[in-house]
Amino acid sequence: MRRRVDQYGPWAIVTGASDGIGKAFARSLAREGFKLALVARRKEALEELARELSATETLVIDADLSTTDGVAKVERETASLDVGMLVASAGFGTSGAFLERDVREELSMIAVNCQSVVSLAHTIGRKLVARGRGAIVLLSSLVAFQGVENAANYAATKAWVQTFAEGLARELEPRGVRVLSVAPGPVASGFGARADMRMSRTVTADTVARESLAALSRGGTVRPGWLSKLLEWSLAMLPRWGRVRVLSMVMGGMTRHQVSARAGG
Ligand SMILES: NC(=O)c1ccc[n+]([C@@H]2O[C@H](COP(=O)([O-])OP(=O)(O)OC[C@H]3O[C@@H](n4cnc5c(N)ncnc54)[C@H](OP(=O)(O)O)[C@@H]3O)[C@@H](O)[C@H]2O)c1
Repeated sequence: MRRRVDQYGPWAIVTGASDGIGKAFARSLAREGFKLALVARRKEALEELARELSATETLVIDADLSTTDGVAKVERETASLDVGMLVASAGFGTSGAFLERDVREELSMIAVNCQSVVSLAHTIGRKLVARGRGAIVLLSSLVAFQGVENAANYAATKAWVQTFAEGLARELEPRGVRVLSVAPGPVASGFGARADMRMSRTVTADTVARESLAALSRGGTVRPGWLSKLLEWSLAMLPRWGRVRVLSMVMGGMTRHQVSARAGG
């Protein structure tokens, strides 16, 4: 079988490489022989990962993807590389009652989870189509398939990613570029603390990277981890309003501590 690095390589850009799923993708791709452009804000964490992966060539790009300058920096610093893959894993979530939240953080989440993905998919997508091969991996979520109470904006950003990936896949696959949407359930990573969600029944970031890379050859949507697969199957027959209720109950469990904290203080 043709090696993935020969099929898509030699360079992969991984955003969100300082932690969690992006870091797991970077490690897996390095093992497969890809050279890596590692993107996130925390430069020291990226440099530490680059040292760990010293057997492969790496480029550290510290950039804030909530800003157009940050996105432009990634595009500029990767312009001369022969990029074969983009893994857009940078992202974060928020939770709780939407009206109680700081709207600037909500807009920043749209900038990172959606706007930076549009820009990078556009720039890198053009390069991949020009070379006639490549892959784009986008991070959707279990919450992408319906509205979710107490994560209304986060779920909407992931619905956007899911819809974007599905349409983009149809456009790019005839032109030799694979597009994969990754829709995990809860993953043990920095995400839960950042989003103030208490998650149980998590899978590891390594599982997400491994199952996603295994699914790359067929594209479409992959649901890493047993919970995401179980919910896909069990919710399939429910009308959309039913899925909204079930996922809102799940999110209610993950954010219950916020209600207790408010009641207590
Ligand atoms: N964990 C889950 O349960 C779960 C489930 C479904 C989908 N997802 C999705 O998977 C993706 C990765 O999440 P994760 O679990 O790996 O979370 P994580 O461990 O918190 O990692 C998030 C990564 O995104 C980067 N990032 C955040 N804001 C950024 C910004 N403004 N500019 C540049 N980079 C930024 C972080 O780096 P810096 O902080 O260094 O910038 C970090 O490397 C996200 O899109 C998330 O929505 C996660």
